Amino acid sequence: MRITTVGCGYLGAVYAASMASIGHEVLGLDVDQKKIDNLAAGIPPFHEPGFDELLREALDTGRLTFSTDYSLAADYEAHVICVGTPQQVDSARADLTYVHAAVDSLIPHLQDHHVVLGRSTVPVGTADSLVQRLRDAGVQAPLAWNPEFLREGFAIEDTLRPDRIVYGLPEDPAEAARAREVLDGMYATMLEADTPLVVGNYATAELVKVSANSFLATKISFINAVAEVCEATGADVSVIAEAIGLDDRIGPKFLRAGIGFGGGCLPKDIRAFMARAGELGVTEALAFLREVDHVNNRRRDHVVNMTRKALGGSFTDKRIAVLGAAFKPNSDDTRQSPALYIASKLSGRGADVVVTDPAANSRVHAERPNLAVAEDAYAAATGADVVLLLTEWDEFKQLDPVKLREVVGTPHMIDGRNVLDPAQWREAGWTYQSMGRP
Ligand code: UDX
Repeated sequence: MRITTVGCGYLGAVYAASMASIGHEVLGLDVDQKKIDNLAAGIPPFHEPGFDELLREALDTGRLTFSTDYSLAADYEAHVICVGTPQQVDSARADLTYVHAAVDSLIPHLQDHHVVLGRSTVPVGTADSLVQRLRDAGVQAPLAWNPEFLREGFAIEDTLRPDRIVYGLPEDPAEAARAREVLDGMYATMLEADTPLVVGNYATAELVKVSANSFLATKISFINAVAEVCEATGADVSVIAEAIGLDDRIGPKFLRAGIGFGGGCLPKDIRAFMARAGELGVTEALAFLREVDHVNNRRRDHVVNMTRKALGGSFTDKRIAVLGAAFKPNSDDTRQSPALYIASKLSGRGADVVVTDPAANSRVHAERPNLAVAEDAYAAATGADVVLLLTEWDEFKQLDPVKLREVVGTPHMIDGRNVLDPAQWREAGWTYQSMGRP
């Protein structure tokens, strides 16, 4: 198949290289010349395990190209909208500016046998409005919705071996058949490998994505709410998570209590979902997501309070080491990162905060000049009055408490991700605190 990806950010770049790797001819389009030049030269604009190799291999096949010239789209058959839908600056809604711009830049180059596919996460009703936009411009190419479910850190795996593929097809039978023919061709290898296929209409496909992310966010906030109760009672949330996770109706995943969820998806998706429900007159249906958001935000402030107490009530002249800045390990993404939120709050209160992250150091340096950045955990912790572990990178999980103790000012560890062994750290002379565990 001949495919363009419109937007070469996280989603689009990984998708483009992945689809080229399974035999398709792919053109990655983006308005950002620097990003396109880098991708064309095999330089990934973000940290994602395995992406360097995948990108280089795909470029070497000659099947993957990148350009800022949208007129090249005329020679391709399927056009996949992969642009971001961030939260609007002044509201909880999703900002669809990039989606509209992507469709508008394609319009002059679309032919009726082409198919436009939406992969971005959008509010329900967006596909209908995009069809209107296409028809208003005289374009008859069908549109289908095909949401992605990729997790950062596992983006290639999730793209090439997804848990499921979802098609949201047009109502018109001829348009639906054409869209389906193109989608089936694009995903032939995955469908042959028995990947479950779920088919619905536009609204269903749009809602599958936000429902999945809202459920995941709810699961995390649920266990974090239980952690709050554990903190008031001396119970251990990780044992509770283990016990309830053994019920296969509940399952063990996404029950890790800690400082909550961040990233470019979960926080903005639950807010956009609530905002859309409000517009549709069903605010009450998603009122619980407001609480999911509140629990999540409370965990961050809880760590700030724990840190203040650990420091005897004042941040003045106190040095705090923060291990982790990315919103999760194996990523350099700091969007809505709980770790960075906490580090910035502590710095704002007057503490001397030193952050270290295996992948996000340069991003922190560029975006938060008020925070000092250290090469590694030992450099960050040198002379620290308290150490906070906020992103569970393997190298932090494997830290030696005896060696780290030699460099800190005060051996006090606040483990925001519940990944260290309390007994081992206490035996090494540390005051060890975690989230919802005694
Ligand atoms: C998410 C969805 O998982 C993915 O399917 C969708 O396509 C995009 O959004 P991602 O944003 O990459 O993916 O991160 P995810 O792995 O879901 O983690 C989100 C946040 O939740 C992270 O900050 C993580 O640390 C936190 N988390 C996750 C927990 O606090 N506890 C858990 O048990 C799991």
